[in-house]
Amino acid sequence: MRIHIGSDHAGFALKESVRAHLEEAGHDVTDVGAYSEDSVDYPLVAEEVGRAVAGGAADMGVLVCGTGLGMAIAANKVDGVRAVQVNTAEFAEMSRRHNDANVVTLAGRSISDDTAFAIVDAFLTTPFEGGRHQRRVDQISALEDSGPKA
Ligand code: RB5
Repeated sequence: MRIHIGSDHAGFALKESVRAHLEEAGHDVTDVGAYSEDSVDYPLVAEEVGRAVAGGAADMGVLVCGTGLGMAIAANKVDGVRAVQVNTAEFAEMSRRHNDANVVTLAGRSISDDTAFAIVDAFLTTPFEGGRHQRRVDQISALEDSGPKA
């Protein structure tokens, strides 16, 4: 699978571990940085990974910051991205089955390497169920560019 991965400084260490884990599993991984613990702004990284996924250059995205929260907020501003911040493999699985999530964001300051590995493994191997969930995902997509409502 083609995976774009990125982090800010707070997610750098976990991102390095997850990148190695994904490469060992045979994935085609593109690392957009950060490349050190020097401070960087997470929205710029989220945009780059989000655009790769939404534009088709990547099948899935993985983003890591301190909490995963800012990365999810920023990535979800890119049309076509369905980013989820998850702390458990169970929620990673549900985000694929029901939400067809295409970007997972991780809390670099809160979860262990092993938990992160379990999350990305579940995320990358669980299929979308479609059916009634496709209608709901389509409703999410319809919110893009829908403008403010009174
Ligand atoms: C950086 O200090 C921190 O704000 C960032 O990594 C992330 O947790 C934001 O959501």
